[in-house]
Amino acid sequence: MSARPLLSVRGLSKSFGALKVTDDFHLDVPDGELHAIIGPNGAGKTSLIHQLSGSLKSDGGTISFAGKDITRLSMVERVRRGLARSFQITSILEGFSVLENTALAVQARSGSSFRFFAPAASEAALNDQAMAALARVGLDDRAERRAGSLSHGEKRQLEIAIALATGARLLLLDEPLAGTGHEESTLLVELMRALKATHTIVLIEHDMDAVFALADRVSVLVSGRLIATGAPAEIRTDSQVRVAYLGEEGAAA
Ligand SMILES: Nc1ncnc2c1ncn2[C@@H]1O[C@H](COP(=O)(O)OP(=O)(O)OP(=O)(O)O)[C@@H](O)[C@H]1O
Ligand SMILES: [Mg+2]
Repeated sequence: MSARPLLSVRGLSKSFGALKVTDDFHLDVPDGELHAIIGPNGAGKTSLIHQLSGSLKSDGGTISFAGKDITRLSMVERVRRGLARSFQITSILEGFSVLENTALAVQARSGSSFRFFAPAASEAALNDQAMAALARVGLDDRAERRAGSLSHGEKRQLEIAIALATGARLLLLDEPLAGTGHEESTLLVELMRALKATHTIVLIEHDMDAVFALADRVSVLVSGRLIATGAPAEIRTDSQVRVAYLGEEGAAA
């Protein structure tokens, strides 16, 4: 692991009126780590992801990525630098094919660089890169299908393919397992395990079995504040965490 974290957050704060959703938050994610962020409903997890991806402006604090301060960069500029959020399902273009959805993400990353190719060669290059991302998530055999016809779990896979197709180094995944059935979630957990070999991942997830199986470290957010960060085994036994969060699942763990 490199000495310098890939993602570094300091003193991040955000309020919606009187409601503090991010309260002096800090985080260091080393290259190659899968860092899970857990916390009760309304703790501010999604608001945090929005601030990291650049779709929500923070009131204060700094976000550094690959050694550069990105706090004031737009979402598009952050994607160009390798920071990608798994897009919400609503952003999948349901009427377009799986391949077209993914090729658009490749194009967004490469900007004008494909202009130097002849149109046919440029399209082939786009499609090759999109197919590589689809193969990575196991959707290559669905490439020609209409995105709207995919199952819920396959749409989650497509969202991840789209994030990969932007050339991301760091993936921000907000509840990828939400609403999936047992088989779909097993498949997505295996996919995330495989992605760990090549990507740094910040994972928000309520499924504690998945979190404890996948995460290198876990941070616990309660009312916008970080109350603990540690290895899964430490978090599982942390008394403050159990009271604030895991307690609601009983003493089974
Ligand atoms: N744009 C907004 N304006 C006002 N309040 C908001 C806004 N977005 C979120 N909130 C509130 O901020 C708090 C944190 O919301 P957030 O979605 O970040 O929580 P969360 O941890 O992701 O919850 P969940 O586990 O349910 O997804 C909630 O009380 C929510 O109602
Ligand atoms: Mg949320």
